[in-house]
Amino acid sequence: MIIEINQACDLVIFGAKGDLTTRKLLPALYKLEKSKKIHECTRIIGAGRADWSTQDYIKIAKTAIKKFLNEEMDDFIWKKFSSRIYFCNIDVQKLVHFFRLKEILNQKKNIIIYYCAVPPNTLDSIFIGLGNANLNSISSRIVLEKPLGTCLQTSKKINNQISKYFLESQIFRIDHYLGKESILNLLALRFANAFFFHNWNNKTIDHIQITVSEEVGIEGRWNYFDMMGQMRDMVQNHLLQILTILAMDQPSNMTSESIRYEKVKILRALKPINVNNINKKTVRGQYSSGFIKGEQVPSYIKEKNAKKNSCTETFVAIKVDLNNKKWSGVPFYLRTGKRLAHKYSEIVVFFKKMPINLFKSSNLELLQNKLIIRLEPQPNITFDFVNKIPGLEKEYNLENSQLQSVDFDEKYSKNLIDAYERLLFECMRGVQSLFVCRDEVEEAWKWIDPIIDGWQQTENNIPQLYMSGTWGPKDSDLLLFHDSRYWYEFN
Ligand code: BG6
Repeated sequence: MIIEINQACDLVIFGAKGDLTTRKLLPALYKLEKSKKIHECTRIIGAGRADWSTQDYIKIAKTAIKKFLNEEMDDFIWKKFSSRIYFCNIDVQKLVHFFRLKEILNQKKNIIIYYCAVPPNTLDSIFIGLGNANLNSISSRIVLEKPLGTCLQTSKKINNQISKYFLESQIFRIDHYLGKESILNLLALRFANAFFFHNWNNKTIDHIQITVSEEVGIEGRWNYFDMMGQMRDMVQNHLLQILTILAMDQPSNMTSESIRYEKVKILRALKPINVNNINKKTVRGQYSSGFIKGEQVPSYIKEKNAKKNSCTETFVAIKVDLNNKKWSGVPFYLRTGKRLAHKYSEIVVFFKKMPINLFKSSNLELLQNKLIIRLEPQPNITFDFVNKIPGLEKEYNLENSQLQSVDFDEKYSKNLIDAYERLLFECMRGVQSLFVCRDEVEEAWKWIDPIIDGWQQTENNIPQLYMSGTWGPKDSDLLLFHDSRYWYEFN
C-alpha cells in the first residue's frame, strides 16, 4: 500500500538516547524537516526508561543534532522541529507502561511508526507490550535494525515473535546500505542502460569484485562485535545486499514485491560453502596493531575489554559462485575488513579477455575491460578500455584509457542525502522496497551459517593476522591468485 508522502505520522523511537538515535536518526529527521519532507502534524516521540520530561528530551535532542549534524543548525528549522518532539517514560518490561504511550498516541489519528533502536534482547518485550495495549493496528508500522539474530535459528525466532503482532507488510527491516544513493544508482546503471543490460551476464563478464573496506576498528563495541565478527556484521547483510542487486534479474516493475522476489532468487542460488570447501573459498583475518592515518592503533585483542584469546574475524574474503544460468562460471569475490588501509567501497566488473589479440606484434597483452563503480567516498563510475596512440612509431601502438563519469558528490551536492534520511522518509511513505523482507534475511543466514560452522569445525579455526593499515591477510591475495586474478588496487 502506498501512502501519500505527506501522511501525518507518530514516530515512536524506542532507545531514545541510544547511539543510533543520537548519531543518525535525530540528525536525519532534522534534515527531513529542513527539506520539508515531514508532514505538518507528524510527531517524534522518544520512548525510554529515563525519568525525563519532554523539555529534557528536547534539550538532549538538540545537543545530539548539534554534535552529529554535518552543517550548522538553523534556529528557525530547529524551532519547528523541536515543537514535534515528545518524551514518553516507559520501561518496556512493564506492560502497564505501554498505556502511557497509548495515551499520547490517542491524542491524534496519525499513522504510528515504532522504531526499535534497541538491543535485540529487548525486542520481544516491545512486541508483546504493543500487542497487549492494542497498539499494533493494521495501519501501524515497525522498524527493526540489524542484527536480526546471529544465525538462522535466532533470526527465525525474532521473525516468528514479531509475526504474532505485525504482518510482513507492516515490518520495515533496515539495512542502511539500501538507503545509500550510490547503491540505488546500481539499479539505474543496470536497468536504465541498454549497453549494460545486454552485457550483464556470463557471456561477457569474467568476474566481479566487491570491496567494502573500513579504517575504523570496533569503536568500543567489543562485546557486540566479538559475538558477531565481520561475517555476521557486514557480509550477512551489506555485502550480500550489494551482491543481490548486482546479480538479480530485471524485476517486472519497481514495486517492493518484484524487487524482493528477484533478490531472494539470487540468495537461493548461492552455491553452498561448508567445511568441505571452506579453505578454498574463504579467508578470515584479524587485525594486529599498526598505523591508520599515521596513528598507531592496537590489535583487536588489545582493544578495550577484549578477551585475549578471541578468534573472531575482523576481515573476510570469499569467492562466491552462483548456481544459475546467467552467472554460472562467474565468481563474485567479496572482501571486507576493519582497520584496512583506506575506507572505501567499490565494485569492479572485469569483462572477459579478447579471444584473439590481433595486435600481438606490438602489444603482447591486451587490457581486460573493467567497469569500476566507486560507491564511497566520492562515488563515480569509470570504464577501462584500450585505444590507439596516433603516430608512425609502430603500426598499432595501444594504450589503456579511462572513460569517467561525473563526480556524483560534486555534481549533485545539493541533492545528497544520508542513508537514514532516505530510509526514514520511505518508511513514512509506507514504501518497503528499500527494506529487507523476511525471506531475504533467512536465505542469507541459510548460506552464512554453514560457513561459520565450517570455520569452527576446521582444525585451524584461527584467523590469519594482518597488520592494521594494510589490505588484510596475504591469503586474501592468494584466493584470487589461485584463479590467476588479482584484487583491483585502490587508487
Ligand atoms: C554497520 C556495522 O552496519 O555498518 C559496522 O555494524 C560498520 O560495524 C558499519 O562499521 C559501516 O557502515 P558505513 O555506512 O560506514 O559503511
